[in-house]
Amino acid sequence: MIRTENLLRRFGDVVALNNINIHIKPHQTTVIMGGSGSGKTTLLRLIAGLEPPTAGHIWYGKDDLSHITQKRLYQLRAHMGMVFQYSALLNSLNVYDNVAFPLTEHTRLDSSVVRTMVTMKLEQVGLRGFEHFMPSQLSGGMAKRVAFARALAMDPEIVFFDEPTSGLDPISAGVVTSLISNLTKRTKMTSIVVTHDVHAGLGIADHVILLWQGEVIAEGTANEIRHSDDARVRQFIEGRPDGPIPFSRSQTSYVEDLLYKPGTVRMSR
Ligand SMILES: Nc1ncnc2c1ncn2[C@@H]1O[C@H](COP(=O)(O)OP(=O)(O)OP(=O)(O)O)[C@@H](O)[C@H]1O
Ligand SMILES: [Mg+2]
Repeated sequence: MIRTENLLRRFGDVVALNNINIHIKPHQTTVIMGGSGSGKTTLLRLIAGLEPPTAGHIWYGKDDLSHITQKRLYQLRAHMGMVFQYSALLNSLNVYDNVAFPLTEHTRLDSSVVRTMVTMKLEQVGLRGFEHFMPSQLSGGMAKRVAFARALAMDPEIVFFDEPTSGLDPISAGVVTSLISNLTKRTKMTSIVVTHDVHAGLGIADHVILLWQGEVIAEGTANEIRHSDDARVRQFIEGRPDGPIPFSRSQTSYVEDLLYKPGTVRMSR
């Protein structure tokens, strides 16, 4: 359904993504994992059509996101929902209005229909009865669930989640991840989840894509990843500080940075 071909994304000298060739199957939960700075959010944003790649293609069937009209991109995006890394609720609106927002912005539905739809979405995320709460009155886990309800408001075919469990205690994280996997199964939507939470990610994934320094280093089912003998994969899933994956990804030498005097020429590493 969604396929990337030789995807490249640069930010200045930084190659955030290099030669990414992945398939995302419909009605499944695909989990993109990797350490901080490995390119997860960038990959999600490219696949969601929020920013263009430097080179390469993102195929939705016969449509290539990097070569389509704005109008067609809007049509495709109408079938997508996003839950951002930081819940990004509108702080001046209560829970009801946050969830209703996409419906009142993008449709001409009667307010009674909107009310029914918002009630259904809040019920799906277990927050019916919290309509009048303001975002500042919600816990982190509740805010994530409101963001989730808002992403579901337009009944999207594809939902993108960036770090849905970050900042949550293990129980709230479990609630959010089981919501994602249950709704994916029940409503036949396609979920693309970005996370560095190994436990949550492997727990809900039908398919895992593991990134390291902007490249795919492993792909497969959660069990295939758990039993991989690639040293980088093992280090990541076991959360070991030492191994082939360095903690720092700096482009210059530490000693040179410490000794650097302005006005002198810096040697590259
Ligand atoms: N808008 C931008 N401008 C410049 N560099 C960027 C931009 N967005 C991302 N990068 C760089 O691209 C690389 C990948 O960033 P990205 O946000 O995709 O990582 P991530 O895997 O989502 O990390 P985290 O787990 O910390 O959220 C990083 O080196 C980052 O500094
Ligand atoms: Mg990120």
